[in-house]
Amino acid sequence: MSYRPTWCEVDVAAIRHNVRAFRRVFSPEVEIMAVVKADGYGHGAPVVARAALEAGATQLGVATLDEAVQLRENGLGAPILVLGPTEGRHVEEAFARKIAVTVFDADTVAAVARATERRGWGAVHLKVDTGMGRLGVRDEAELINLYRQLLAVPALRVEGLYSHLACADEADPSFSVAQHDRFRRFVTRMSQEGLPVPPLHLLNSAGALRFRGWAYRLVRIGISLYGYYPSVHVKTGEVPLRPALTWKTRVAHVKDVPPGTPISYGATYRTTEDLRILTLPVGYADGFSRLRSNRGHVLVRGRRAPIVGRVCMDQTMVAVPRHWDVQVGEEVVLLGTQGAERIDADEIAREMNTISYEVLTLIGKRVPRVSVDVEGGGEV
Ligand SMILES: Cc1ncc(COP(=O)(O)O)c(C=O)c1O
Repeated sequence: MSYRPTWCEVDVAAIRHNVRAFRRVFSPEVEIMAVVKADGYGHGAPVVARAALEAGATQLGVATLDEAVQLRENGLGAPILVLGPTEGRHVEEAFARKIAVTVFDADTVAAVARATERRGWGAVHLKVDTGMGRLGVRDEAELINLYRQLLAVPALRVEGLYSHLACADEADPSFSVAQHDRFRRFVTRMSQEGLPVPPLHLLNSAGALRFRGWAYRLVRIGISLYGYYPSVHVKTGEVPLRPALTWKTRVAHVKDVPPGTPISYGATYRTTEDLRILTLPVGYADGFSRLRSNRGHVLVRGRRAPIVGRVCMDQTMVAVPRHWDVQVGEEVVLLGTQGAERIDADEIAREMNTISYEVLTLIGKRVPRVSVDVEGGGEV
């Protein structure tokens, strides 16, 4: 229960639609991992995970063990991989809950061996760094050495060998091609050493939209699960996506002001004509960024209304013409579609000089998420 008239509607039908859009372009042996880290990119991880699994995803990816535990505690039994680092002292807890961890160094491999012995179960994915410069083994000999240690642990499953593309959303594919070549060299080395090659995976959303031939056993879909293309360079009609999140609020106060009226902190905006100012109960503490002060828009009555003055911590003002008969309590769309108009996370990202990922994940805990199922009609 929330008393706050500011909320997000998460359309689970859109999540299902987006998974199916990817399902259609890959052969059945390619699995889809729904990446639901950061609370499902701000949408609510358990709800998104459930919808994605219903539509054909078979695995879940998260950034931290806490996020994986949250999914298990919400009754999700599907395979989960922690994509980020897991401290050695917590690996046993992961295995106790049948959660797979990512390994890329000797200390974690040792912790994995101990935890598997104690629990009688363990699952890992080995990660190699092919150009991202973040997590992963960079050296082939080191990879072989770690892999041999893992293979020597009874009851341990090495469920994957993977890497992450750094530039898959850019116009020029050459960096990704070099990363793929590097990935292949790790795989070839494993074969040459006579070791079994684990299931391979490399592609994020941009990669899956663009380099389908490199899908191997699994693709890891994050941002596109939520209905967004990572960039204009990978936007394709072959995988039609539907944004899942609509952020709404209700007008808290309406006032008619004459020309020359200052609005909000710093009086950075002054009306130049007769206007109707709407005060909205949303602010930067909700993730409605202060960078949008005097720049962004919201949707009122299916039309754009400019944000005027500075966005405050909990409130924001927008201006409409006097002849719009807007009432207190009227619904306003902050992100999403209203009538024929739409403001999406890409547009907001451009205003803030960032990416849709950040716009979505900034939406704060104070904003309740409500599931809707637009195919099925209404709230669930
Ligand atoms: C290792 C890994 N795989 C896949 C993804 C999903 O990426 P995207 O949201 O671009 O699809 C992420 C997210 O950054 C990631 O860190």
